[in-house]
Amino acid sequence: MKQFSKIMEIQEYLCSQSDIGKRIGFVPTMGALHKGHLALMNRSKMENDLTVCSIFVNPIQFNNQEDLAKYPRTLASDIKMLEDIGCDVLFVPGTLEMYPENETYIFDLEFGTLDKGLEGKFRPGHFKGVAIVVKKLFDIIKPTRAYFGKKDFQQLAIIRHMVKTLQIPVDIIPCATVREPDGLAMSSRNMRLTIAERTIAPKLFQIMSMVKTKAGKIPVEELKEWAIKKIHENPAFRVEYFEISDEDSLLPLRNWNQKEQAVALTAVFLGDVRLIDNIELFS
Ligand code: PAJ
Repeated sequence: MKQFSKIMEIQEYLCSQSDIGKRIGFVPTMGALHKGHLALMNRSKMENDLTVCSIFVNPIQFNNQEDLAKYPRTLASDIKMLEDIGCDVLFVPGTLEMYPENETYIFDLEFGTLDKGLEGKFRPGHFKGVAIVVKKLFDIIKPTRAYFGKKDFQQLAIIRHMVKTLQIPVDIIPCATVREPDGLAMSSRNMRLTIAERTIAPKLFQIMSMVKTKAGKIPVEELKEWAIKKIHENPAFRVEYFEISDEDSLLPLRNWNQKEQAVALTAVFLGDVRLIDNIELFS
């Protein structure tokens, strides 16, 4: 696996590859890799000639400095995992490489309804930070296809919107959420759960799955109230939001008229670890 930390050097290499017709698949990450990330990488390997992974803990998408400081950093084992699955190129830029001092990056993209609720409400500025870094990474890598997990459902919607609005020539490929055998959605943050918290965490997906079986049978508001109450039956959980939304606009659904589009999304604190998860209710 080729490894780069400088923009100029990776650009030079990737240009030489796309010049000879190689299709580039790209998986942007913040590292602390797990099987969810690797599923994206494997999909990219199947669909492209060259797979590029980036690892960059993007400071401007953290609205909470403590969260940034605590974000797991496991570069040595990440590199080993990437080598084992046969990733071709790894890009690990430093913060100053991505955000040179005195750079004024003008980026005023409107996300309409997409960034107002859910994560956007509780993490102000988060999606602007995500969009900026992904735009910069796309400019550097110039991928044919880029792979994003449905685990971060709202992030995927934001990226699709950005690509469409700015007419960036890349195919965005959504990938299913990869879960632990007990249902917990894989996440780099899971490694911060205590042993006791780790045994409680899968209850969240169990409840999401129960929501799916109840969807369409009781009114939306009632189902949301039921879900929040059910999650809080375990006092270790603290729900930040639980919403049933339209998968395109991400606006809350009022009834089941457009039920094929319904997705339940939640963010829940377990101790000081914030878990997010979602489930498509009628697919
Ligand atoms: P990160 O959290 O490292 O996730 C990188 C990619 O892996 C994202 O597309 C995310 O949705 C996907 N992913 C994470 N857990 C997953 C799981 N259990 N199943 C399937 N896919 C999963 O998301 C980010 O980084 C950053 O915001 C980034 C896009 C890199 C911009 O900084």
